This record gives sequence, structure tokens and C-alpha cells, in this order.
Amino acid sequence: MSTLRINVILFGIGNVGSTLINQVIESQKFFLEKRNIDLRFPIITNSTLAFFEKEGVKNQWEANFAQSAIPFRIEDIIDYVQEQNLENLIAVDATASSEIIKSYIPLIQNGFNIVAANKKANTLHLDFYNELRRNLKNFDKTFLYETNVGAGLPVVQTIKDLHFSGEKITKIRGVFSGSLSYIFNRFSSEQTPFSKILIDAEKNGYTEPDSREDLSGNDVARKLLILAREIEQKFEFSDIKIATLLLLELNEKHSKAQYAINKTLFDKPFNIAKITQAENHVLRYVGELDVITQKLEVKLVSVPKSTALGQLKGADNLIEIYTKSYGEIPIVVQGAGAGKEVTARGVLTDILKITDKIKIKETVFQ
Ligand SMILES: NC(=O)c1ccc[n+]([C@@H]2O[C@H](COP(=O)([O-])OP(=O)(O)OC[C@H]3O[C@@H](n4cnc5c(N)ncnc54)[C@H](OP(=O)(O)O)[C@@H]3O)[C@@H](O)[C@H]2O)c1
Repeated sequence: MSTLRINVILFGIGNVGSTLINQVIESQKFFLEKRNIDLRFPIITNSTLAFFEKEGVKNQWEANFAQSAIPFRIEDIIDYVQEQNLENLIAVDATASSEIIKSYIPLIQNGFNIVAANKKANTLHLDFYNELRRNLKNFDKTFLYETNVGAGLPVVQTIKDLHFSGEKITKIRGVFSGSLSYIFNRFSSEQTPFSKILIDAEKNGYTEPDSREDLSGNDVARKLLILAREIEQKFEFSDIKIATLLLLELNEKHSKAQYAINKTLFDKPFNIAKITQAENHVLRYVGELDVITQKLEVKLVSVPKSTALGQLKGADNLIEIYTKSYGEIPIVVQGAGAGKEVTARGVLTDILKITDKIKIKETVFQ
């Protein structure tokens, strides 16, 4: 059987993108021997520069990028792959950019499959969401984004498989944020003030550069919306009821400097929430989709310590999937919901799934 060459065009060489390149370089021999696949990166980019390399990146890719990358437009990328007759194309979006998603449809129309760690394309208005899927169907291309929720954990695919097997999903509930998992797991088990734990979370790199993005609840809401749409629930972001953790005195309307010096204002309200709970209960910040009542909520809840959510530790994510067949006991997916290694591995898994599809098509049309 001949080796299948796959051309990955990588947008974004930050934490996730650069780890992905290194994971592929490390496993290149393994993929060749075990799967007959030659995974190449003929183009890698950051926000302004692209590095074009006929042979694909190798160990010294960072030095090569620094030396030879040039400004680019998306049209240059499309022209290049056409000139070089590159086939089996997968564009990987390892950015958090709102700009790059405007290129998804032109890329699909020019022969690219897409793998995204970036959540933006799945959380915009439903018109764009549907238009993207219409193009995928028309051009027979695949778009995978397992890392949009729970990083490398198998959440999106599990939910999709259940739904398309005819299983009735009744509720999805979970802790979708590593930073807020860390904060509330510690806050519930220690006598440490909320503000101190928040500062620790920032120092450990668990939060976004401005932790108000985490505390706003918007990121949890985006992940919930992605899962809801996965089971064909036609919600918009504005349908989600978000109980933000931000206080009026500490919200995004105030400067970052004011926010930094006033974090102790969080201590009193969160302490009240903690001490007014029932015995043996802990606080968790969850996203919840109730399919029966058609409610999407992001909120702080108090749960018994003995439950799966109550036992959560570290910065783990935990997603409960309730279905008709599984009844009262949900399917639970738990583990690290962030981190460059697990996220890049999740992106790589999506790339390999598309590769398998390409292989099947090649066999059929040979
Ligand atoms: N890190 C995690 O644990 C994790 C987990 C799950 C999902 N994700 C998602 O993965 C994505 C990447 O995260 P990250 O941590 O790797 O981010 P990052 O370290 O900030 O890297 C982002 C990369 O994207 C590039 N970029 C920005 N705009 C671009 C554009 N328009 N075209 C091409 N490249 C562009 C940046 O280039 P410049 O340097 O030039 O700006 C940079 O190389 C995000 O959407 C994030 O939400 C991350």
C-alpha cells in the first residue's frame, strides 16, 4: 500500500500550534510505519507571517520561521497549494482569531478540510454556522473541533455519536473551565480567601491574561452553546442565561489596574455563598443545558460533596451527559480540560480522523 501524504496548513504557532508541530515531528516515523501516513506542514503562520516549505517543517522549524517567514494573505496560501499541486489539505486553526474564521468558507471551497481549536466559528450567529455546514456538504469536506470543549477530552464526539445514534440526550451539565474548576475546588476545600486563590490561578497561568474573561462566564457559555448546537438545538449565544461571577465594582468597565487592586471585594460575597450552603456541600460553576425545558444556563451551584461534581479536583473539567437510556446516572467525562500538550494531541486526533476519511475515499475511487 502506498504512503498517503497529508498536507497540514497550520494557522497559529503559539502554545497549541507549536506543540502540535513537535508532536508530529516526534511521531513521524510511527505514523509512517503504523498508519502509512506522511504528515507534512508545508505552510505555518502566525498572525502576520507565513513560512512556506516544500518539504514541510523539520526539527529546526522555529529558526527557519524566524529567518524566512514572509507577510501573507489567505489568497497567497490558496495560490501556493494550487501551484504546488498539494492534495489532501487540512487547515488547522490554532488561533483565537475572529479574522481567520472568515477564511474557512473560501478554504473549504478550495479543497481544504478544517480542524479548529478556535471556538469562534461555532459560536457566531446560526446563519454563519449553517452556511459553513452547507459548504462542507457541497464541497464534501470535513470540519472537526473536538478541542473546542474540554481540550483533548472526548466530549464533542461522544455527544455527536450519542445524538446521531438516535439516543435522546436530556441534559448536559458540567464544569467546563479549568480556571474556575481550580478556583472553586480550592475555595471549597480550604479556608483561603477567594481573592488569594484567584491570584494564585492567575500566577499559575490557569486564567486568561485578564481573569475577568474567565469570571464573566462567557467562555463557559460558548462551550455550552457548541454542545447544544451539536445536538441540533438551534440556540444563539444571547439565549444563554449567564450568572456572571464578576461584581459591578470589578467588571470589564473598570481598568485592569483598578481590578488588580480591588480583588479582595470578591471575598465577602463568595464567603457568604460558601457558609450559607447546606452541610457537606461545595460550590461549583457549571454550564447546564436542559433539553426538556430548553434552558441554557451558566451559574454557581452548591452540590453535595459526595457527587461526581462535588469530588472534582485540581483544574479538571467534568461533563455529565444525561440520556434516556442511561436514565438517572449520567455518562461522565472527566480530566484535564486545558494545557498545550493535551489540546495539541486532541487537534492531532482530529487530523488523523480526517486522514482516515481521505484514505477511505482514495480506496473507493482508485
Ligand atoms: N492552550 C490551551 O490549553 C487550549 C485549550 C483548548 C483550546 N485552546 C484554544 O486553542 C487556540 C490557541 O490557543 P493557544 O494557547 O495556542 O494561543 P496562543 O499561544 O496565544 O497562540 C495563538 C497563535 O495564533 C496566532 N494568530 C493570531 N491571529 C492569527 C491569524 N489571524 N492568522 C494566523 N495566526 C494567528 C498567533 O500569532 P501572533 O503571535 O502573531 O499573535 C499565535 O501564533 C485558542 O483558540 C484557544 O482557545 C487552547
